[in-house]
Amino acid sequence: MKIARLSKITFLFIIILSGTFSGNKLLAQQKMIGPYLQKMSHDEVTISWSTYEGVTEIKNSDKVIQDVSQYQQHQSIITGLEPNTTYTYDVFKDGTDIGKGSFTTFPEEPKPFTFVTLGDTRSRHDVHQKIVNRIIKEDPLFVVNTGDLVGRGNSIPDWEHFFDINDRLIRHTPYYTVLGNHEQNSDNYFNFFSLPGNESYYFFTVGDALFIVLDMDGEDINTPAYLKDENEDEFWQNISRDYFEKEKKWLENVLNLNKDAGYIFVFFHPTYYSIKKSRVAEAEMRREFWGDIFERHHVTAVLNGHDHYYHHAKHGGTDYIVTAGGGAPLYDTDAIQPETVKYKKIEHYMRIDVKKKHAILKAIDINGQLIEEIKVKKRK
Ligand SMILES: [Fe+2]
Repeated sequence: MKIARLSKITFLFIIILSGTFSGNKLLAQQKMIGPYLQKMSHDEVTISWSTYEGVTEIKNSDKVIQDVSQYQQHQSIITGLEPNTTYTYDVFKDGTDIGKGSFTTFPEEPKPFTFVTLGDTRSRHDVHQKIVNRIIKEDPLFVVNTGDLVGRGNSIPDWEHFFDINDRLIRHTPYYTVLGNHEQNSDNYFNFFSLPGNESYYFFTVGDALFIVLDMDGEDINTPAYLKDENEDEFWQNISRDYFEKEKKWLENVLNLNKDAGYIFVFFHPTYYSIKKSRVAEAEMRREFWGDIFERHHVTAVLNGHDHYYHHAKHGGTDYIVTAGGGAPLYDTDAIQPETVKYKKIEHYMRIDVKKKHAILKAIDINGQLIEEIKVKKRK
């Protein structure tokens, strides 16, 4: 969890609107979220969970306006582990299965492994659940969600749905996340997740493979009171530019320091190449700002979300993939680009097998059918 944003808040104040969540786990006597795994390395892991602490009822006359519930966030940082080793854990040791899970530490040396990427899981919970059920069968070493995990980052019921759907997966599989616009830069996101670095943009390694997560959403700043309509656009452009310039320098530095990486996978939420007409210009602006940075550093693949379909584009030797078929309503593909290699309007996820000399990226649809298979050579 991000300490700066937490301001030592111990309790999450949770607004449960009418129509409370009915997931089995939350109806159980020990109402809680998790446990779930993050910040895995070859010798360390963070196990997080939240326990329900109570509820405050807010009324107007006799009408209940909202129930404000409280969860307490917990985490255990386990150190001194052996690489590439499977462990079991039990955060309660109370004789029940509620706090039990297992994990496998990352390898320290280059070694074949499989990971999964999906995105935009924010709605259609039945679709999200089906995709998660398929991912569990893939038994990945870890999962990366390319953003828009939930519909509204400020809504705790949305997060309860998210964690309930993922419960069987994330108590056994580390889950890395990318900030999407629907996360609303909310404190809930930073409270629930423990991510490396500043948590908005960060990197981690598995053997000689480098994984970089970028934040293309921008800084969380309240609109200053002095802002007027006529200068608001300029203010936000300047603020965002400062933030992204700093992030770009950080990225260049990380890439320069990891020149020998066998594979480099970069994740961010909005697209670099869009085939949705209303977003083509926005993607072009993004490419103008970030330029050829991914190609110049021979990034293995860039993986985005945001546009709800599957899209594979290729430019300058780098594969740009949009994987955003995790649950949000699908978009029409109405502006195919010269860089487009393959596209399909379908719910899906990516299984990526990192091998000794190459990686195989498979786009797999919700029914288990292969959409596309991409083979990418190891960098060195
Ligand atoms: Fe989005």
